[in-house]
Amino acid sequence: GDSYDEECDYLFKAVLIGDSAVGKSNLLSRFSKDEFRLDSKPTIGVEFAYRNIRVGEKLIKAQIWDTAGQERFRAITSSYYRGALGALLVYDITRRATFNNVAKWLHELREFGNSDMVVVLVGNKSDLGNSREVDEGEGKNLAEAEGLCFMETSALENKNVEEAFLIMISKIH
Ligand code: GTP
Ligand code: MG
Repeated sequence: GDSYDEECDYLFKAVLIGDSAVGKSNLLSRFSKDEFRLDSKPTIGVEFAYRNIRVGEKLIKAQIWDTAGQERFRAITSSYYRGALGALLVYDITRRATFNNVAKWLHELREFGNSDMVVVLVGNKSDLGNSREVDEGEGKNLAEAEGLCFMETSALENKNVEEAFLIMISKIH
C-alpha cells in the first residue's frame, strides 16, 4: 500500500518516567509537535504521542507513553511498561529531590520493565542554570554507574530534546 504506516519498518513503544513537574510532558510535546507550554497541567493517567523517524534506511514509528509523576494520578504500572523497549528517566536539574528519586524510578523500571530496555537518564531544564542544584557531572556519574545513557535537555529552549529521544531510538535499532 502507499500509506506511511504500511511502509514503516518498525513500531516501537517507549515510556517517560520521573517525578512530577520535571518536564516529561513538555519534552514529549516538543519532540512530537514542537510545542512547549509554561503553564502545562500535571498529567492524569496515561497519554501518548507518535513520531515517525528515519534512522539510516529504516522508518521507525515511535509511540511514546507519558504518565503522571504524581502517584495518585498514575495508572496501572505494569501495563504502562508492557512492551516498552526504551525509557527516558527524567529529573529536574533545579530540584535535587527529583535527582535523589532516580533510584526509586530505576527500581520500578527494573521491577516492571523489560530487562534489556534502553534507558536514557535526562537532566531537564538546563536553561535554568542559575537555579541549578545538580551538576552535570553527577548526572553523568550516576548514568555510568547504572549503565544508562545521559543527556541534559531544555524543553523550553528545545536543546538536546531531539538528541535524547534519538539516542534511545538508535540504540534500540
Ligand atoms: P507530571 O505530569 O505531573 O508528572 O509533570 P511533567 O513531568 O509532565 O512536567 P510538565 O511537562 O508538565 O512541566 C512542569 C513545569 O515545568 C511546567 O511549568 C513546564 O512549563 C516547566 N518546564 C518543562 N520543561 C522545562 C524546561 O526545559 N525549562 C523550564 N524552564 N521549564 C520547563
Ligand atoms: Mg506530565
